[in-house]
Amino acid sequence: MRTILVASSKGGAGKTTLATNLAAHFALEGRDTVLVDADRQRSSTHWCEKRAALESAVLPVEGDRRGWEKRIPDDAQRVVIDVPAGWFGEELSPYLEAADAVLVPVQPSVIDLEATVPFLDSLAAHPRVRKGKLPVGLVANRLRPWTTASQQAVELLGRWPYPLVAQIRDSQAYVLLAGLGKSLFDYHSEKVREHQADWEPLLRWVRKA
Ligand SMILES: Nc1ncnc2c1ncn2[C@@H]1O[C@H](COP(=O)(O)OP(=O)(O)OP(=O)(O)O)[C@@H](O)[C@H]1O
Ligand SMILES: [Mg+2]
Repeated sequence: MRTILVASSKGGAGKTTLATNLAAHFALEGRDTVLVDADRQRSSTHWCEKRAALESAVLPVEGDRRGWEKRIPDDAQRVVIDVPAGWFGEELSPYLEAADAVLVPVQPSVIDLEATVPFLDSLAAHPRVRKGKLPVGLVANRLRPWTTASQQAVELLGRWPYPLVAQIRDSQAYVLLAGLGKSLFDYHSEKVREHQADWEPLLRWVRKA
């Protein structure tokens, strides 16, 4: 079982978007995939419910109730955990203990970058991260690569002590697909393939982490 935690204390950074697309990617590879939804908004759970009839369905597990780990089937091959905004330290700790890797989405604005610094500091203080046992990858999300703001954000992210594992563009595709219980990986048009290419370094990093 491999467990990927998607987390950031900043609201709306793209945690659920990353978690659902990554879970769909694993399921489409043929892996038994579970999406642990620790957010009472239940966005990830609703997404799973919408794709329940597909062969590449993803099993939702309520992750904010005591004993959530025990509700993950033993034969699950991939587990993605989506946590709510605002979680730090103690609250996040059991999820960090369970994870093999952590992805932190960040949007390319000074407000978002600054708001994420205390979260990254709190991650750095966690013993497994400090000892190098739990890799952390940054994901620049909602980039408009042609803008100065995006270019500056990518440069700033490059100075942080965690690798920048993907640059995901801003696209209405993510908004539309989320509402359908779909992901970028369910489609094969040329346009979608460009978007999928944004994920390649992230998927490589996750495989190695
Ligand atoms: N790359 C993207 N391009 C366009 N829209 C995006 C992208 N990533 C996320 N969004 C949209 O931004 C909004 C917030 O994204 P999402 O729900 O994934 O963030 P979140 O971090 O899970 O939020 P919360 O903190 O509320 O849980 C959603 O409407 C989502 O569809
Ligand atoms: Mg969310």
